[in-house]
Amino acid sequence: MREAANIVEVASEFTALKRQGTNYTGLCPYHQEKTPSFSVSPEKNFYYCFGCSKGGDAIYKTLAVATAYYHKYLLKSPAAAEARQYLKDRGFEQSTIEEFRLGYAPSRERSGFMQAARKVDLDRGALEAAGLLSQRGGERFVDRVMFPISDRRGRIVGFGARALGDAKPKYLNSPETELFNKRSLLYGFPQVAEAVRKEGAALVVEGYTDVLMLYQSGIKNAVATLGTAMTEQHLKTLSGHADRIYLLFDPDEAGEKAVEKAAVTAAELKLDLRVLRLPEDPADWLLEHASGEFLDLLSEAVPILEYSIRRIAGQVRGAGATSRARAVPEVKALVRQIEDPVLHREALRLAAEALDVNPEALRSEPDSRNAAGRSSSDGPRRRAPSDPLIEAGREVLAIVLARPGLASGALQAGMKVPGLMDEPVVLGNGDFADETHARIFASLVEHAEDPGAVLSDERARPLMDEISALRAAGEKLYPSEASLRAAWFRLAALSREKAKLLTDDFDEKFRLHAEIKRLNAAAVEASNLTLES
Ligand code: CTP
Ligand code: MN
Repeated sequence: MREAANIVEVASEFTALKRQGTNYTGLCPYHQEKTPSFSVSPEKNFYYCFGCSKGGDAIYKTLAVATAYYHKYLLKSPAAAEARQYLKDRGFEQSTIEEFRLGYAPSRERSGFMQAARKVDLDRGALEAAGLLSQRGGERFVDRVMFPISDRRGRIVGFGARALGDAKPKYLNSPETELFNKRSLLYGFPQVAEAVRKEGAALVVEGYTDVLMLYQSGIKNAVATLGTAMTEQHLKTLSGHADRIYLLFDPDEAGEKAVEKAAVTAAELKLDLRVLRLPEDPADWLLEHASGEFLDLLSEAVPILEYSIRRIAGQVRGAGATSRARAVPEVKALVRQIEDPVLHREALRLAAEALDVNPEALRSEPDSRNAAGRSSSDGPRRRAPSDPLIEAGREVLAIVLARPGLASGALQAGMKVPGLMDEPVVLGNGDFADETHARIFASLVEHAEDPGAVLSDERARPLMDEISALRAAGEKLYPSEASLRAAWFRLAALSREKAKLLTDDFDEKFRLHAEIKRLNAAAVEASNLTLES
């Protein structure tokens, strides 16, 4: 206790301290400041300035020594054989263990880090301030695999510690301090920052082990939150290095809430945020699957906006018009946040479709963005100009449904463009901007060998009205091999046009640009043929 009083007394000689809970705060004597960020803890016999990090050196030093100690213990000690085996059984390679400096905290029977710390002159105050002591004053981490956690600059600020077996809690983390702040830290950040910059994209997963397993599978741009949902601060950190972020999460209530919040932040930061719900943790999934398959999954991640709108719409699906109308304000608020005019229009379309309401009902009033060209009189509303992408999708389906036999080959293997493109042009559900169209197309692909069978497929029944309408429309389009080819390539080109607009990856933009040119050429060639015939 004498010692405890001491540090406050000593510090008081340099700056006026005010009691705040168990600590004392004041203006930092080491740097110029107007608001107090100098904190003294009599309990921990420690001072630290959150403004200039003075005093923090000792904490870092302590954590760095601890990391080295746990790491070496894991690699070398006979007493860590079980921990080594555990990591091996879970599929972690030696190189991963070394790169992420995984460690092992000895079991109770062994002398632990406290003993080792004494030898290098680290006192209790430093251990306490570094969060390495338990509430009772003993070792905090015992018989656990240690995951050192660094801040953005690569300084170790704490640990996540996993029990080897089923002991509870499964993970024990360093205590929350301003240094070890779960709302802003991302596990793996310093290790993956370069890959994130290179890819312009980052994955955010939930577990430490997921980061490691992705990393050693060659997907080196994943970080994990520390058992908390993703926050605005996490997104801000990442937005400095990447403009596309994939959020992989467990779809529980808390997860969904976090996604909603993230949608708003992502819009503010102009981040392309996409979400993906996984069948299981990536760490487990990757033990059974190749990394290429993981990338396939990733490519199905849904843009956050679309995800949020669909989710809200999903909650009122099947409900009466009144309930659906009740969801309108919430969706409207989401849509309003989108400044990019293309995305804005896309969101409006999506939302109107999902809620089955008139897009007008979702527009924010007054809306300068869409004011042009709209008459202020009460006359009949002009039908909104239709979306060329939807129209192109409609045309493909109309021709296919009118002459199913023509499309069988293309539905199975894509449409070849000899001389122009190496690979056949394959259309997918994602190329259809209209959801019903996408479903009809999916159904056609399922019956690719005999697309006409769609007409008698029980499961396609809810789509039958639309299918009949499309078929009738197809008859008027002079369905032929050439007209199908023209429509097929036109849709592929328009859909890639949209992808080109949405991607910020310049290589991808470039690639799409070249592909669109070739597709347009192929479409023109095919429609010239329809004129000749
Ligand atoms: N977590 C935690 N405390 C717990 C459980 C979980 O802090 N008692 C945090 C950890 O950051 C953990 C993340 O939540 O990485 C995800 O939890 P979970 O999926 O349960 O663990 P995994 O990381 O998947 O660990 P493992 O693969 O070893 O089961
Ligand atoms: Mn997990």
